[in-house]
Amino acid sequence: MLRHLFGIIVGINLILAVTCQSRSFFDMNCPQNKAANLRKCEIFVDSRIDFIDFGKWTSELESTVKVSLDVTCSKKGVFSLPWPMKARGLIKLNVKGCVLEGFFPESLTPTNLKDELQELSLDTCVIVSNLKRVIYLFNTPLTKEIDCGQQTLQRSVWRNISYMSTNNMEDVTIDQFLKVFSSFEHFLNRPKQIRYRCKYSNLKYIDESISSTRSKYSFLLMTAYADFPKLHTFRWIDNGYRSIPQELIDWRKYFPQLKLLDLSYNNVTKFDFLGAPSSETASKSEPLVVDLSQNSVAEIPINMPDYLTGSVPIIVDLTGNPLRCDCNFLRYKSYVMNALKRYEKYEKLSRITCNSAIKHRKIQLVNYRNNNC
Ligand SMILES: *[C@@H]1O[C@H](CO)[C@@H](O)[C@H](O)[C@H]1NC(C)=O
Ligand SMILES: *[C@@H]1O[C@H](CO)[C@@H](O)[C@H](O)[C@H]1NC(C)=O
Repeated sequence: MLRHLFGIIVGINLILAVTCQSRSFFDMNCPQNKAANLRKCEIFVDSRIDFIDFGKWTSELESTVKVSLDVTCSKKGVFSLPWPMKARGLIKLNVKGCVLEGFFPESLTPTNLKDELQELSLDTCVIVSNLKRVIYLFNTPLTKEIDCGQQTLQRSVWRNISYMSTNNMEDVTIDQFLKVFSSFEHFLNRPKQIRYRCKYSNLKYIDESISSTRSKYSFLLMTAYADFPKLHTFRWIDNGYRSIPQELIDWRKYFPQLKLLDLSYNNVTKFDFLGAPSSETASKSEPLVVDLSQNSVAEIPINMPDYLTGSVPIIVDLTGNPLRCDCNFLRYKSYVMNALKRYEKYEKLSRITCNSAIKHRKIQLVNYRNNNC
């Protein structure tokens, strides 16, 4: 959770009408699927809904019943959703288009609920929080339950999430603000003092795309005390990143089973994915695909041939980058042609183009020749 504390910017005041959803509200919106023993809730929120009310409702269901909750909000819709979003039996939670309130927990006392959530998706939501609370949490040791969230997750999507604060700037003293920034280094040292590890043993899919408030420390905090032994797909699209964070250069160390790393629509100019060596010695036939399409790469690394010779071959897709037609590009071409001998299905790589300054046009990789290299 530490990472999400970073996203706060100072903004609006929200005045919220409070209503309470009764048991019959959820009974009505969550029809029973008897065969699967699953209650599937689909709720459209035009005013406000509180996760606590939902949690009360699920706590009264039979203990074998599982629940999925889909919440879609109108422009005015508010969902009070306290992290780590636990409710008895809740295995899937999809939230779309909501203002999320009460997100950072008021209390750090244990919930006494076990982790059960398998799928979480927050899409196009605004997390609104009290800046004083955030400053407080910044300076407080968190519990493992709060910090790790639900370790049963298989899929985790935080897409197009933005952050706002409910305070006027005057509510927060300059001293409080400065304290956060002066203790920043101390904050980044905190992971070293953390004695637990978050183990996301089932997590296969992460999508954290489209966010203008991603901190450059995101990956450091994400990996410092957490394990992702099965992570298969990692989408990190359109986050304005200009360079590859060290934790992704060293992906073998932190995400040993990675198959797809999608960094498309960022602003990356150079890349390196040959960092830390693998701890596994056995070679794998399945490659890691790194999607760097629609970035700003102009420089192909000298060691491009090595991308195919490691224990896990790496396919780097540079579609839509400002590649010049030169010896660099020829190096990329020979790498692609070698890759295609083994992996025909990435045939679209052969249609990647370079910009020829001499001919004033784009030339496709398969057609590119250069005798001067
Ligand atoms: C992202 O969220 C904003 C509102 O916060 C919305 O206007 C925009 O359409 C969303 N973009 C995508 C690609 O979903
Ligand atoms: C990043 O790239 C996008 C296009 O992909 C561009 O609109 C944006 O201005 C770039 N941002 C920076 C900070 O260079």
